[in-house]
Amino acid sequence: MSQRIPLCVRGTGSFVPARVLTNDHFIRYLDTSEEWILARTGIRERRWVGAEECTSTMAIEAGRRALEDARMRASEIDLIICATATPDHMFPPTAAYIQDGLGMREIPAFDLEAACSGFIYAMMAAAAFVSAGLYRNILIFGAETLSRVGDPQDRGTCILFGDAAGAAILGPAINSEQGILHWELGCDGSRADYIVMPSGGMRRPASEETVRQREHYLRMRGREVFKFAVGKMEELIDRALAELGMAPDELALVIPHQSNLRIIQSARERLGLPPEKVAVNIDRYGNTSAASVILALDEGRRNGTLKPGDTVLVLGVGAGLTWGLFALRL
Ligand code: UT7
Repeated sequence: MSQRIPLCVRGTGSFVPARVLTNDHFIRYLDTSEEWILARTGIRERRWVGAEECTSTMAIEAGRRALEDARMRASEIDLIICATATPDHMFPPTAAYIQDGLGMREIPAFDLEAACSGFIYAMMAAAAFVSAGLYRNILIFGAETLSRVGDPQDRGTCILFGDAAGAAILGPAINSEQGILHWELGCDGSRADYIVMPSGGMRRPASEETVRQREHYLRMRGREVFKFAVGKMEELIDRALAELGMAPDELALVIPHQSNLRIIQSARERLGLPPEKVAVNIDRYGNTSAASVILALDEGRRNGTLKPGDTVLVLGVGAGLTWGLFALRL
């Protein structure tokens, strides 16, 4: 078994915008159907931000709820890490707006970009900071405004994405059981163009031409990402079970990244677990990238599925292509 990284989840919180978009929204103007969207993705509806909302505004609300849950004051937080692929701006970091919005001290605040694996990367970065004794209480986020990067004319992608933010407060373990029991992070950069927003970065700055070519929207080689994700999740699961020396039914909950219900089901089959042991929120929220797993972790803690002493397995694959997994004892 891997070396345990001592760590405690002191609180969690999440936020989704009020605006609900059912599949009807797309059926009205695109060549698509309820049957196709449900059968191929598992999505019934998703939440989209209103004009005044963006990644930081959602994260600030999720952060407030996490502080409330942890019964902590904003002044007790020592570091902010915001995992997002859809920041408010290229710079400054979205974490800076969050720090200000939560009325925090001048603590360090930075963004981390690992796409859909972002929250898993942020968790491991925080675990390293806490266990090295560099920072005590760390507020991490997975927060995304994907509605603004989906091309409304591309039926293969625009139906998939939703907006949301989740937050977790991590601190030193308070008993000898808590912490990360096993973890793995990775990236295959040779597949970097599988999911890409072609313009708006410094390789290809925004111009009239890039806007005309719709390059400010996300492009994805869906089928190839799908195959890669299924295979990688199986590998991650097999290695985790071998390393942990646990039977799948000893896990209180498995939280896979919510990119496609068929990918989630293939992970569930690999584990041989009943549906109630594998978190699903894609039906309600669509693919919320870095937010998806922390939304499910927060929901599990709030509805009593996850209790102190439980072990939860969290894993995902996303743009990069990046991937990650952690097994956390609460
Ligand atoms: O979160 C980051 C990681 N992302 C992922 O893991 C996403 C992985 N990929 C997927 O979830 C799936 O590939 C999609 C949901 C994006 C697409 O599903 P698919 O079953 O792989 O469909 P496909 O792209 O192979 O397309 C099959 C057919 C095509 O038509 P033809 O060429 O066979 O005539 C598409 O044009 O389905 C068509 N199609 C649609 N039809 C109706 C694509 N989108 C739609 C649509 N409605 N919305």
